[in-house]
Amino acid sequence: MSMPKEEGLDHSLAFLKEGYEFILHRRKSFQSNVFETTLLGKKAICLGGKEGAELFYDTDKFIRAGAAPNRLVKTLFGEGGVQTLDGEQHRKRKAMFMSIMTKTQLQQLDQLLETEWEKASEQWEKNDQITLYKESQKILMKAACDWAGVPLDDEEKRTDQMRCLFESPASLGLAHWKGRTSRSDAEDWIAELVEQVRNGDLHATKEGALRVFSEHRDSDGKLLPQRIVAVEVLNILRPIVAISIYIAFAALALHQFPQESERLKKGDGSIRRFVQEVRRFYPFFPATVAKVKQDFEWKGYQFKEGTMTLLDLYGNNHDPNLWEQPDLFRPDRFLDWKESPFDFIPQGGGVFDMGHRCAGEWVTIQVMEVSIDFLVNRLQYTVPKQDYSYSYSSMPSMPKSQIILADVRKQN
Ligand code: HEM
Repeated sequence: MSMPKEEGLDHSLAFLKEGYEFILHRRKSFQSNVFETTLLGKKAICLGGKEGAELFYDTDKFIRAGAAPNRLVKTLFGEGGVQTLDGEQHRKRKAMFMSIMTKTQLQQLDQLLETEWEKASEQWEKNDQITLYKESQKILMKAACDWAGVPLDDEEKRTDQMRCLFESPASLGLAHWKGRTSRSDAEDWIAELVEQVRNGDLHATKEGALRVFSEHRDSDGKLLPQRIVAVEVLNILRPIVAISIYIAFAALALHQFPQESERLKKGDGSIRRFVQEVRRFYPFFPATVAKVKQDFEWKGYQFKEGTMTLLDLYGNNHDPNLWEQPDLFRPDRFLDWKESPFDFIPQGGGVFDMGHRCAGEWVTIQVMEVSIDFLVNRLQYTVPKQDYSYSYSSMPSMPKSQIILADVRKQN
């Protein structure tokens, strides 16, 4: 049986134009959770729905090596990182990441973050207004470096580099090239620290990512090359700073849905549901990508070895077959969510250890909870008129004003 197929030479431009909604639009028009298109001049299969996600995370059927487009590897991922590994090599490397995600470690990150929010808010009292997206990046970068045991030499420069890594993958021209330069500079910076840890010149905290990753032995029993450790340490720092995108969207939700903000003030236990709904509702990553490992057949459709395959992350979070009225912001939908690893997938699906589900999902949830609680219960501020709109085609998306807060004061 032949798969539903989008006719035409190449649909990369449509992907850039329709952005987050590209796959879901076509899933709806084909009435199918699987279809074929052409992207970057190559045949691509798009998968969606619970069944599509479950198939995508079957490691006997899909691999990651060589799957991600070069512009993503050269900016967001870095070369040789966990995202590009498969099988035993991936399992061992992923275990290294998950080993630092203990309850105690996460509590430590909470405390570091609280301290940074406190310090920053004292500064903000001196200003008429602040831009939350940018300010939260500074907070997150300081807390992330402390947590990872990374001495932060030049706060502004390094925070800017992290931002470029996640803002540049889909951008064009200069902005994209700035992302590539930021990657090589940031890797140089961390690689040098790895050398210092290894020769005893830097006593990085025992449980922090810098030390744990510098001492980690890969599946061949050898220490990882310095450059790879740098890539993996950046796989901690960069995404923690990227949580600033969710913080900006959360602040937007607090403003646009004041009834939800009131509930959070009462502390009625709804913060987790609010965080989950922010992660479901707002756009972050449109899709993730793999390659068919070897020929197989699914539902009568042929999957040929090497075919690029995309999983519709944004689309699954907005799929009307999976969510009632998906385009409404309604945190209480999580009261009776059945916790499937394949429907709610803003940070990937499946399992953490064997699959590529985001290693930092718990970190993200916690950082968001601490930050939102601080905004709601520890600060008072006004929200001046600004452009709250966000685009479905710029990736990553972001409220245009980056969320301006005025007259920020600590609550008494
Ligand atoms: C992987 C999203 C935060 C570390 C991923 C994937 C997505 C994602 C979509 C790929 C899933 C796949 O390909 O199947 C996000 C979003 C975040 C976030 C939206 C919010 C800012 C974090 C944080 C950390 C982190 C805070 C670390 C502290 C990782 C790592 C991987 C990953 C190491 C690769 C996992 C693997 O390949 O096995 N993330 N992430 N992420 N994420 Fe996150």
